[in-house]
Amino acid sequence: MRAVDLIAAKRSGLRHTAREVTWLVTEFTAGRIPDYQMAAWLMAVCSQGLDDPELGALTTAMVASGEFVDLSAVGPWVADKHSTGGVGDKVSLVLGPVVAACGLPFAKMSGRGLGHTGTDLDVAEFERTVGSAGMAIIGQTPSLVPADKQLYALRDATATVEQEALIAASIMSKKIAGGSTCIVLDVKVGEGAFTPDLEAGERLARLMLELGRTHNRSVRCVLSRMDEPLGLAVGNALEVREAMKLLAGDGPPDVREVAFTLAGHLLQMSGLVSTLEAGRVAAAGALDSGEAQAACRRWIAAQGGDPTVVDGRGLPDAPIVTPVVSVGAGVVQTIRARGIAQACLLLGAGRATKTDVIDPAVGVTLTVRRGDSVSPGDILAHVHARTTDTAAVAVTRVGDAIVLGEEPVRAEALILAELDEGGSRL
Ligand code: URA
Repeated sequence: MRAVDLIAAKRSGLRHTAREVTWLVTEFTAGRIPDYQMAAWLMAVCSQGLDDPELGALTTAMVASGEFVDLSAVGPWVADKHSTGGVGDKVSLVLGPVVAACGLPFAKMSGRGLGHTGTDLDVAEFERTVGSAGMAIIGQTPSLVPADKQLYALRDATATVEQEALIAASIMSKKIAGGSTCIVLDVKVGEGAFTPDLEAGERLARLMLELGRTHNRSVRCVLSRMDEPLGLAVGNALEVREAMKLLAGDGPPDVREVAFTLAGHLLQMSGLVSTLEAGRVAAAGALDSGEAQAACRRWIAAQGGDPTVVDGRGLPDAPIVTPVVSVGAGVVQTIRARGIAQACLLLGAGRATKTDVIDPAVGVTLTVRRGDSVSPGDILAHVHARTTDTAAVAVTRVGDAIVLGEEPVRAEALILAELDEGGSRL
């Protein structure tokens, strides 16, 4: 087999056999297919797509590229969660401690975006930590789904992330190898998400539910709106700080709502509660009683971190904090998530190329939300920067992303749809 033939076949809209897909993944992961050929194949997939058997083969080959986590000793139910990627999405840092405090172990392998958090446990330590501390979150180790790690880095740098089948395979390969038995997927829908509308979101959700079914995992999908950033903070340390505030009972209500909705599903799927509403109530109870915060301290200590992070200590601060000041008056019509994300990217909070190093201190904190009235001179946000140059550019970008208008704005639902294991709406 030759990669160039498979690229040409896919470019022409032909279907691969399972053997061909497996070969491609295996050879690429072993370093025998160069990045440029794999990038070309990924681009061909972006224009021609993958059918269900190709997607199944891709996911299975990705899972088989590395080790599996074995959490069977922890108990019959271990929870995991994944988001298809939203701006300011720090929900896992709240959800994990909340469900762990409710008695449901939480084991999550995060994607590349969270790699900076220093979550370098190996698989054996991960398994032990879930058992002893009730939760663990690790970055992708080289041994777990190495195919996704390599593919995702390439996709990130070649504008090939936003393809439904590639997203489904990427997410589900990690979830299947990650060893958890009940999984909730937060499919983001909107301007700041990979899936722009509910229809596209449901299509992605159904692809992932099907992959879950074929691998015997209990999987549900929540579709949530991602037009504006989630919460007020975007950027690594800034988001951790916001999540910790939430665990202390003082965070933004939108993050809380998504976290409680996801928790409700996980607690119901594992049989700890019988209804979704009871799950939400249990989650709120764990947060309000301080038990979730205590679970978070146990988790951080178990992974060798400093548990005083829970109190907002020990996180890096950017040296330059510049306000974004409103020039006009009006009502905030929207805060474009993509614009805020782009500002954060140029500040150094994300990667533009696969080798870029993330600056954990930089980012944006909003001081207004959609629907707020503002006057000239009001502070709309703060830019947290490493240099005055990046601060100046980011201030303009953030200002452009916060759209003012005359009209009052209507409240929009944050949770758009919830799909059960069989794909039915709940
Ligand atoms: N999150 C992932 O883990 N993979 C994708 O491809 C997109 C979002």
